[in-house]
Amino acid sequence: MNCNACIFFLLVFFFFTLNSITVASKGSASESESYILACGASSEGTDSDGRKWEPDTKYVNSSGKSITATADSQDSSLPSTVPYMTARIFTSASTYKLSVPRKSRLWVRLYFYPSTYSSLNANTSYFAVTANELQLLKNFSASITAQALTMAYIIKEFSLTPVESGNLDLTFTPSPDYDDSYAFVNGIEIIPMPDIYNSAVVVGFTDQMLDLTNSSLQTMFRLNVGGQFIPASNDSGLTRTWYDDTPYLFGAAVGVTDQANTTIKYPTPNVPKSIAPLDVYSTARTMGPDPKVNANYNLTWVFYVDANFTYVVRFHFCEFQLSRSNQRPFNIYINNQTAQNGADVISWTGSKGVPFYKDYSIMVSDQIGDDQLWVALHPTVELKPEYYDAILNGLEIFKLNDQNGNLAGPNPVPSVLKLEAEAKKEFSSSGSSKSTIIGGIAGGAAGLAVAAIISIFVLRKKRGLSGSKSGSHNWLPLYGNSHTSASKSTISGKSNASSHLSSLAQGLCRHFSLPEIKHATKNFDESNVIGVGGFGKVYKGIIDQGTKVAIKRSNPSSEQGVNEFQTEIEMLSKLRHKHLVSLIGFCEEDGEMALVYDYMANGTLREHIYKGNKPTSSLSWKQRLEICIGAARGLHYLHTGARYTIIHRDVKTTNILLDEKWVAKVSDFGLSKTGPNLNQSHVSTVVKGSFGYLDPEYFKRQQLTEKSDVYSFGVVLFEVLCARPALNPNLSKEQVSLADWALHCQKKGIIEDIIDPHIKAEIKPECLKKFAETAEKCLSDHGIHRPSMGDVLWNLEFALQLQDNPNGGKLVSESKGNDTYGINRQMLSIEEEGSLSEDTDDTSKNEIFSQIVHPSGR
Ligand SMILES: *[C@@H]1O[C@H](CO)[C@@H](O)[C@H](O)[C@H]1NC(C)=O
Ligand SMILES: *[C@@H]1O[C@H](CO)[C@@H](O)[C@H](O)[C@H]1NC(C)=O
Ligand SMILES: *[C@@H]1O[C@H](CO)[C@@H](O)[C@H](O)[C@H]1NC(C)=O
Ligand SMILES: *[C@@H]1O[C@H](CO)[C@@H](O)[C@H](O)[C@H]1NC(C)=O
Ligand SMILES: *[C@@H]1O[C@H](CO)[C@@H](O)[C@H](O)[C@H]1NC(C)=O
Ligand SMILES: *[C@@H]1O[C@H](CO)[C@@H](O)[C@H](O)[C@H]1NC(C)=O
Ligand SMILES: *[C@@H]1O[C@H](CO)[C@@H](O)[C@H](O)[C@H]1NC(C)=O
Ligand SMILES: *[C@@H]1O[C@H](CO)[C@@H](O)[C@H](O)[C@H]1NC(C)=O
Ligand SMILES: *[C@@H]1O[C@H](CO)[C@@H](O)[C@H](O)[C@H]1NC(C)=O
Repeated sequence: MNCNACIFFLLVFFFFTLNSITVASKGSASESESYILACGASSEGTDSDGRKWEPDTKYVNSSGKSITATADSQDSSLPSTVPYMTARIFTSASTYKLSVPRKSRLWVRLYFYPSTYSSLNANTSYFAVTANELQLLKNFSASITAQALTMAYIIKEFSLTPVESGNLDLTFTPSPDYDDSYAFVNGIEIIPMPDIYNSAVVVGFTDQMLDLTNSSLQTMFRLNVGGQFIPASNDSGLTRTWYDDTPYLFGAAVGVTDQANTTIKYPTPNVPKSIAPLDVYSTARTMGPDPKVNANYNLTWVFYVDANFTYVVRFHFCEFQLSRSNQRPFNIYINNQTAQNGADVISWTGSKGVPFYKDYSIMVSDQIGDDQLWVALHPTVELKPEYYDAILNGLEIFKLNDQNGNLAGPNPVPSVLKLEAEAKKEFSSSGSSKSTIIGGIAGGAAGLAVAAIISIFVLRKKRGLSGSKSGSHNWLPLYGNSHTSASKSTISGKSNASSHLSSLAQGLCRHFSLPEIKHATKNFDESNVIGVGGFGKVYKGIIDQGTKVAIKRSNPSSEQGVNEFQTEIEMLSKLRHKHLVSLIGFCEEDGEMALVYDYMANGTLREHIYKGNKPTSSLSWKQRLEICIGAARGLHYLHTGARYTIIHRDVKTTNILLDEKWVAKVSDFGLSKTGPNLNQSHVSTVVKGSFGYLDPEYFKRQQLTEKSDVYSFGVVLFEVLCARPALNPNLSKEQVSLADWALHCQKKGIIEDIIDPHIKAEIKPECLKKFAETAEKCLSDHGIHRPSMGDVLWNLEFALQLQDNPNGGKLVSESKGNDTYGINRQMLSIEEEGSLSEDTDDTSKNEIFSQIVHPSGR
């Protein structure tokens, strides 16, 4: 899937929702010259924010043919009936004639609710809108746009240069390209505004400025970076709406967010109140506490825009964590070009807590279908700064009218949009949860990295105190059979594990003393043992007067332990994600080694699905689905979120843990790999240990890719659906391997027959279909045919939506019944498990691997 595309669609989605209805801003001096028109309304109306909308009748040119109409139906997502439920419909060109102040820029906001009006279907409406000479919209279909963005309504915002004549003609013209086309509009706002656009640095020509005073603009995006949605009523007087930036973040490396706790000096001579509300400056996104990670990634936002226009990108900054210049210089890139080298907020503002903004302009041309706008931040490493980091508080993107006085772009392309937007939404929500977990950087003297770690501990401690259930669950993954291979690795020194740890990992991890560990586990009391693995025993423990933790103690005689210990610390200390089990710290003293983790109150996923070979009924289908989504997020993060692709290598239901709120956490990174360092002895051993979950291609090519995790996750999905182990030797031969059996049933369309009876009544057919298809794709023989974890993630999210809202999908009742089942069982072709020969033929190797050969040779 093209992820940029999904980002785009959500961007557009947000852009079109840019302004929900706004509250009258009493403070605005020019309020009297504002027009807030409910088109087609017969009398004044008030919206949900208490704002008054006046009928448009007296402003519209009566010679143009127009009718007023009321929408046939009211979508539940409309913020209020005014102005959406009434419309003015134009069957020929018609003009609103408005007198406006001559010296003032104007906001023009147009509200569209594409519904059916008096039997006129908005699907047939294509039209153009001009404001005097300026083309705002052309061949515009509100219906396509809204459909594409899964929005019920659309709002477009423009800022017009002052109209010298004082007369603004807003003309609606039905498209001549379509028969019976008509134009419509539900609401119009014309509001004088201060001139907040001056000049912008031209990217690529840093000594050149683009004068904006003669440009009209369309607002494309307006984001409160690292902060929350700000409704128009909370804007600083300009009734703008500010959105959360997470949907636009690119990749899984999304930095961390923080909220200022110092007073911000505002407004300033450089930043009048009209530029942005204080809320924008008091939240920020930074790159995160790890300088090594930061040096290797770009904090990136991606926006889809209309090609062949010049855009102004406005950056809002406020440094509220650091106070000296050159502590955190960073580069700003727009579309891979350097917009600013060594941006240093303190040197711009002079001191901490002072807002600042800067505009850059860039032309987005139409080469190779390029209609993206990438904004990226990266530490200026060559300045050797104190912090390898970057900060951003707000971001706005405006489209400038072209030389022909045009601002209109094409309609978005529907259908794809819908799904893409969902996918993007999914990615973004995973992003935001991540930043929540990582928590706020306290800022200031202590140093960012240290401060961040401390705040994590504080958060964790609070969580621990606020009541995780006690239980004797096996909460933590043990190093199982699959990991014994590590003993073949060479060990270059064993006594002092931490000396092998990068200083970075040590810096990121809390260091526990042995007495602390002993105290936590009552001197490793056997009654506290909650699991045993290759590495040693795992104990339940309590630290910091009440935080429950799990402590994995190394078996001092195990050399394998040293390596796994290091791998786990190295991996986990750098990976922080809501859906990855958290490493709190480690202890390395007197030949003892121990790892301290968050306690997972609800144990493993497997124990909640089946015990032994019997299904358990403790989790509903929806809970299971949500757990799968969580685990998929964790894996997606592993694959894409860190500096290297990290391959888990042992995805299974016992390595998906559940915390007290049933949030899924992927665990066990002792042998996870960052790809290039694999050696084959690991591979062959793993093949034995994880049979049932193992990627046939991995086995065949002895080459690990992240798609091996996808395969294993496919098995997990079927395990969750069917409530049975990946391998169950007690069953008839064709059923021993869940992967093969489930694939077979899926292909025959009888998957309903093998799902867990506990969930059968609950699961919606549409949801089942999507879920099973997703699992099936994960089990494709060839990695390239398997979806990425990101795709899996959104398919599961989609399945969850289908469960919640099956949209009247039809019931799947066919192919049920014993006859079908019996026939299919007979038709199943069964082959003996082959020997592990060196046959080079791909197919035969696949067959060796599979216990059942798939009839169609998938
Ligand atoms: C109404 O608008 C049309 C189209 O812009 C224009 O041709 C016509 O002169 C206008 N009539 C009046 C009375 O303003
Ligand atoms: C507009 O068309 C889309 C698909 O082409 C359809 O789903 C939708 O129901 C139509 N809208 C109306 C109001 O008929
Ligand atoms: C802006 O427009 C005014 C009036 O047309 C003109 O006098 C002025 O030179 C223009 N400024 C720029 C920078 O183009
Ligand atoms: C808007 O401002 C009001 C008053 O300051 C505040 O109570 C409210 O929480 C704000 N709303 C949002 C969404 O920020
Ligand atoms: C952009 O401009 C080029 C050259 O004028 C033209 O060929 C292309 O179709 C335009 N692209 C769009 C999306 O308008
Ligand atoms: C920026 O560079 C990356 C990698 O070189 C490329 O994938 C991406 O398409 C480029 N973006 C733009 C807008 O040129
Ligand atoms: C960050 O973006 C710039 C500009 O596109 C690019 O040159 C650089 O290689 C990127 N750095 C990383 C670490 O991705
Ligand atoms: C108008 O928009 C529709 C839908 O996006 C598109 O199919 C059509 O080609 C456009 N027509 C013109 C003349 O641009
Ligand atoms: C605010 O940040 C400072 C460091 O900049 C920290 O010492 C202080 O505890 C923080 N205050 C709050 C309330 O978080």
